[in-house]
Amino acid sequence: MDVNIWEKRWLKNDIGFHEARPNPNLINYLANLNLAKGSRIFVPLCGKTVDIRWLLLNGYRVAGIELIELAVDQLFSENGIEPEVTHIGKLKRFSATNIDIFVGNVFDLEKETLGAVDGVYDRAALVAIPPDKRENYAAHLTQITDHAPQLVITCDYDHRKIKGSPFPVSGEAMQACYGKAYQLALEERAEIPGGLKGISPAHSEVWVLKKNSRGNQ
Ligand SMILES: C[S@@+](CC[C@H](N)C(=O)[O-])C[C@H]1O[C@@H](n2cnc3c(N)ncnc32)[C@H](O)[C@@H]1O
Repeated sequence: MDVNIWEKRWLKNDIGFHEARPNPNLINYLANLNLAKGSRIFVPLCGKTVDIRWLLLNGYRVAGIELIELAVDQLFSENGIEPEVTHIGKLKRFSATNIDIFVGNVFDLEKETLGAVDGVYDRAALVAIPPDKRENYAAHLTQITDHAPQLVITCDYDHRKIKGSPFPVSGEAMQACYGKAYQLALEERAEIPGGLKGISPAHSEVWVLKKNSRGNQ
């Protein structure tokens, strides 16, 4: 796991992925998961995304996991929330009303520790996982969330021009990750203005995943 790479990025505030405003795809497509207000939404590899604040303000409960504690400290302090911190095995849990954020490696998060969730919101999480670990990640996420429906935002581009994260995720890769457990719908594919990091033409993709009636993986 690339703890050092992510730790250095957070320490240097090298977090170009962090958005100042709620992601429009969350606002436009969350309804496609058909979740009632009060539902608990899991945000894997959450960083300090402002999407968490949007979810809370819109009546959802949130669970998340993030590798780097500094990011979680900033998430709570920037939202003026004082968390209660507990240790659970290899993880730490930062909790307050309607929010539980785990600090640690997503692969160390077990279903019982996470607790029941109704949906998953993955923005820039699958694309942050190295391709050789991607299918393990998808299977793990599917298992710990008990096949909860997912809103997944990825990007696709020519990876030869950029090193490291975000890793491009093609439609074929989405099918390889989630095609057995879920029915996948590509809701939107849009050109990223200016390309990725200003270097490579790129597209963002918005996927809605609903449990396959066969439901196994
Ligand atoms: C590209 S950022 C996206 C953050 C957030 N989803 C957003 O939209 O701003 C990926 C985040 O995942 C975290 N991360 C990377 N690998 C992880 C892992 N194995 N387990 C938990 N978090 C991880 C990184 O520290 C980083 O904050």
